[in-house]
Amino acid sequence: MEISVKVNGEQKTFAIAPADVLLDVLRREGYTGVKCGCRAGDCGACTVILNGKAVTSCLTMAAQADGAEIVTIEGLAQSNSRLHPLQRAFLDHGAAQCGFCVPGMILSAKALLDEHPNPTEPEVREAIVGNLCRCTGYKKQVEAILSVAGKKG
Ligand code: FES
Ligand code: FES
Repeated sequence: MEISVKVNGEQKTFAIAPADVLLDVLRREGYTGVKCGCRAGDCGACTVILNGKAVTSCLTMAAQADGAEIVTIEGLAQSNSRLHPLQRAFLDHGAAQCGFCVPGMILSAKALLDEHPNPTEPEVREAIVGNLCRCTGYKKQVEAILSVAGKKG
């Protein structure tokens, strides 16, 4: 079967099997910024934005995404020198160490800021509660997201 989706603004058609999850389809199609961690909805590494909401793509059936708009981390930067403000803030705040959690965390933050441009710190922490980071302790990531709040580009 096939699904038709818009990924990072580009219309795409993907061949899928009925049991495929969105995580595997996206990675197979080259969106390897979508990370595979637990495959159980626990780590958030596979987070993408689906129709405006941050979702765990390992728990999303690919067939359910037919007709959807999807944003992956590949869709954020306009070029290597023109990063999305969240990507720039993560760099500037030293909020990435190994980086494995970062694509998913930035997408959770983007979904939050798209809906609530001026979140409080508790709201930021709540938005990334499903994005586990084994490296940073979250403080710098929260600071990075708050630094972007209210001044999105
Ligand atoms: S791989 Fe999807 S939540 Fe961990
Ligand atoms: S920076 Fe390593 S898991 Fe978050």
